[in-house]
Amino acid sequence: MKAIVVTDQAAGTAGMKLVERPDPDAARLASLAGASYGDVIVEVHASGFTGNELEWPSTWTDRLGRDRTPSIPGHELAGVVTALGYGTTGLSVGQRVFGLTDWTRDGTLAEQVVVEARNLAPLPGDVDFTVGAGVAMTGLTAWQGLFEHGRLQAGQSVLVHGTAGAVGSIATQLAREAGAYIIGTGRAAHRQTALDFGAHEFVDLDHDALEDIGRVDLVFDVLGGDVQKRSAGLVRAGGTLVTVTGPPEARPADGLAVDFVVVSVPAQLGEIAQRVRDGRLRTNIGKVATLDNAVAALNPTERVTGKTIIHVRP
Ligand SMILES: NC(=O)c1ccc[n+]([C@@H]2O[C@H](COP(=O)([O-])OP(=O)(O)OC[C@H]3O[C@@H](n4cnc5c(N)ncnc54)[C@H](OP(=O)(O)O)[C@@H]3O)[C@@H](O)[C@H]2O)c1
Repeated sequence: MKAIVVTDQAAGTAGMKLVERPDPDAARLASLAGASYGDVIVEVHASGFTGNELEWPSTWTDRLGRDRTPSIPGHELAGVVTALGYGTTGLSVGQRVFGLTDWTRDGTLAEQVVVEARNLAPLPGDVDFTVGAGVAMTGLTAWQGLFEHGRLQAGQSVLVHGTAGAVGSIATQLAREAGAYIIGTGRAAHRQTALDFGAHEFVDLDHDALEDIGRVDLVFDVLGGDVQKRSAGLVRAGGTLVTVTGPPEARPADGLAVDFVVVSVPAQLGEIAQRVRDGRLRTNIGKVATLDNAVAALNPTERVTGKTIIHVRP
């Protein structure tokens, strides 16, 4: 099969290469010969890649800390199940699926991927593969950050950083639907996009004073650093700062600071797919390219707003 691989961490996305790799072994998967309990093979139709994946240790080492290069990046997918491993439940061959794959295994920038069945949800027939791949990581991250870790309730206020970006745009829509008041942030050029996704107001982080917004119940942080530190001071007593950028660098004086890594939860993927189908959720896809053109697409010479999706099967 064709796949994108990386071997050199220092090279970043410029080190990505399109190569031939062996197909996953369906017969071995179905037997008890390998440690593949619960895995399925998915023919990838569309794949997503998160911008800083090549900085994640899991791209380079497995769970025992062993070098796993050349590794195939990309952990967001939509595709069709082609083979079932021993012990797999809930999926059938030919089924359309979407979800996230394990960070420490070969990923989705490939024609096929081996993935645990429990990480996948059915992709409804009327949701495009590109859309499915575009909303898996962003939708789950937004859902878990807002509702599980942030315990967002109707009537609360939430500061969503990076509102025009891949995760922020979905978080803004979900929070709006949940009845929250949303203050979006980003660069000056993102104002209209943020308002279009549902932010009630917008803070241009380069020119406006973040501190002018007053207090909020929840901060949803995708930026980290100084912006996160300043945001901690804006959290109301009993509120929460949720970040996806790693261990929190600041804590609210009388609230929680939570960081998390998204997990693939089929029930939540189902909620997300339903919202895409009925128009409550709009994906934020900036660019679509083929696998043959993926290396160039993932090394853009200009900024791409929204997610880049690799359409593996045209
Ligand atoms: N922990 C987890 O489970 C998890 C899951 C998903 C994502 N993440 C992380 O979340 C982060 C965001 O991911 P994403 O896919 O949403 O990225 P993205 O699409 O690039 O979104 C980030 C947004 O914030 C804007 N921005 C960045 N720096 C800014 C600054 N200094 N001032 C104002 N605006 C700024 C970006 O604008 P420009 O495009 O103009 O820079 C973009 O609109 C990444 O670090 C990713 O690794 C973590």
